[in-house]
Amino acid sequence: MRQAGIYGLGSYTKGRQVSNKAFEETLDTSDEWIRSRTGIEQRVFADDEVNTSDMSYHAAKEALAHADMSADELDLIIVSSVTGDYKFPSVSSLIQERLGAKNAAAMDIGAACAGFVYGVVTASQFIQTGTYDKVLVVGAEKLSKILDFNDRNTAVLFGDGAGAAIVGPVSANRGIQSFELGANGAGAEHIKADPLIQMNGREVFKFAVRQMGDTCMNLVEKANLTKDDVDFLVPHQANIRIMEAARERLQLPKEKMAATVHKYGNTSAASIPIALVEELKNGKIKDGDLVVMVGFGAGLVWGGIALYWGR
Ligand code: UT7
Repeated sequence: MRQAGIYGLGSYTKGRQVSNKAFEETLDTSDEWIRSRTGIEQRVFADDEVNTSDMSYHAAKEALAHADMSADELDLIIVSSVTGDYKFPSVSSLIQERLGAKNAAAMDIGAACAGFVYGVVTASQFIQTGTYDKVLVVGAEKLSKILDFNDRNTAVLFGDGAGAAIVGPVSANRGIQSFELGANGAGAEHIKADPLIQMNGREVFKFAVRQMGDTCMNLVEKANLTKDDVDFLVPHQANIRIMEAARERLQLPKEKMAATVHKYGNTSAASIPIALVEELKNGKIKDGDLVVMVGFGAGLVWGGIALYWGR
């Protein structure tokens, strides 16, 4: 079996930067509460005319350029989103046309905030078996479309954005070493959109703290490694307290965890690839590093990947 890894990353984080203070005018909340309970200082809301497919397209273009590839080399496009432009057609079909990826199949998957991890794992199966060579995986959300701006429990938590990765074959000592995907539909009522987001934050919080840590430990064990081998943690950026709990389970120092939640809030499926882009630019992720990505979200679902970075 071939090794599958990530090369080429891109993101889209443009829009209106909205401070916590802005919510104080309309909701019974405060900058102090939001910062201390979540780590969020601001979020970005995409411009009105920018939809999920637009953000996906721009992130994908950047990922293709970063991978030094043209769109017609793509065999498959997977977009993970809970805020697609339409019920159908899929976001992946919309960007297939726009990118000119004429040889690519296209599908959207829904695994909420774990969606990027689900997408990369799905892509990796095609790569490992040799069925496909290059798969574009996008996590993109315009959550501002489905936020209830009258509900302080959810309105202050989320933001918009997109991240994209090219998944393809890598050398034997790089790429995915282990993964875990999971679901517990018994917790489905704790976070849903019907049509606006509703959430039992405390229940999701408890689940997330336990599951993020457990998944991190399972990933290193499945890869026949130990937590001391982990070089960098990229958790889903939902709440700094949940992220810190995962970091503490791995006993990693602060500087070995990606943290962008203060700038973007929770961007659901986009949060992990956006964080990857930023930490790669910051030089925090280096060739050969063992990187652990882990996410959780509505479903309830979770997913994680341990991979050696690089080609
Ligand atoms: O990607 C997955 C998406 N979901 C998540 O990641 C959410 C996971 N959960 C969380 O991040 C946290 O549970 C929250 C940030 C949502 C809440 O933090 P908490 O420390 O768990 O607070 P809590 O739910 O225990 O609520 C404490 C109080 C409540 O008031 P009462 O019932 O104690 O009077 C809330 O009504 O804080 C209140 N509250 C707020 N107060 C000011 C809730 N939201 C706000 C707010 N401003 N925005």
